Amino acid sequence: MALVSSTPLLRKARAEGYCVGAFNVHTLEMLQAVVEAAEETKSPLIIQSTVGTVKHLGADYIAAAATVASNRSSVPIALHLDHCSDFGIIMQCIRAGYTSVMIDASHDPFDKNVAATRKVVEAAAAVGVNVEAELGRVGGVEDDIVVDERDALLADPDECAKFVELTGVHTLAPAIGTAHGIYKGDPNIDFDRIGRIASKVSIPLVLHGGSGIPENQVRKAVSLGMSKMNVATELRIVFSDAIKEVFAANPEENDPRKYMVPAKLALKAAAIEKMRLCGSIGKA
Ligand code: 13P
Repeated sequence: MALVSSTPLLRKARAEGYCVGAFNVHTLEMLQAVVEAAEETKSPLIIQSTVGTVKHLGADYIAAAATVASNRSSVPIALHLDHCSDFGIIMQCIRAGYTSVMIDASHDPFDKNVAATRKVVEAAAAVGVNVEAELGRVGGVEDDIVVDERDALLADPDECAKFVELTGVHTLAPAIGTAHGIYKGDPNIDFDRIGRIASKVSIPLVLHGGSGIPENQVRKAVSLGMSKMNVATELRIVFSDAIKEVFAANPEENDPRKYMVPAKLALKAAAIEKMRLCGSIGKA
């Protein structure tokens, strides 16, 4: 089926109390791996690319590959642009065929974040593209965005409600204590805050920093209203480690298929595991 907006996928997830995995991909094989995982488990899927990957591959290449994958697939798939503060790149991705975008103006004061988000919501409305925004700041490293732990501010529940009302945004990523990258210890998730935000905001909430969150904590966050979980670092590591293993065993290997196939299979298994954690298996 054709690529769909992530809005209906995530509204259904919020209503039924599960979460949709949103996986960052950087190569064709990574994209194929997460789509195969979704197809095999009958799970809805959000394929994501960062701005860095848009610059690396081209929005048109990514959208074309995602469109082919989606057309071949029987499960609903959305293509999402992760963390972007550049209006021009957002428009470029929408024109290329992305069905979901994130405007990240969380580094700006509240009013500027509202204005930037509203501008994208208005532009996306005509084509039915989902818009995600962030309030507070998620710590850690995502692509070339680096947020020092000390600068990571948690989202205020009343501000979240006001933000949604003022912007008309479709999905909201409130900072609640997770971070991008691999955690040094256990993440310090403010579950009480998730509950308070969810009680004031009825749109789907997005859990960033999905790599390395312990299983029971993911389940708790989902039960409180998180409807989309972003996973990047962990999947990149699984994919790269499988390639390293091939070269460790055979340093002379020079057929890309010989190292891409095991990497793809390892990533597919990791994606299925995240889908199980999200509770999205069988929900397509
Ligand atoms: P991780 O790299 O920690 O999985 O975070 C991904 C993310 O939130 C992308 O927006």
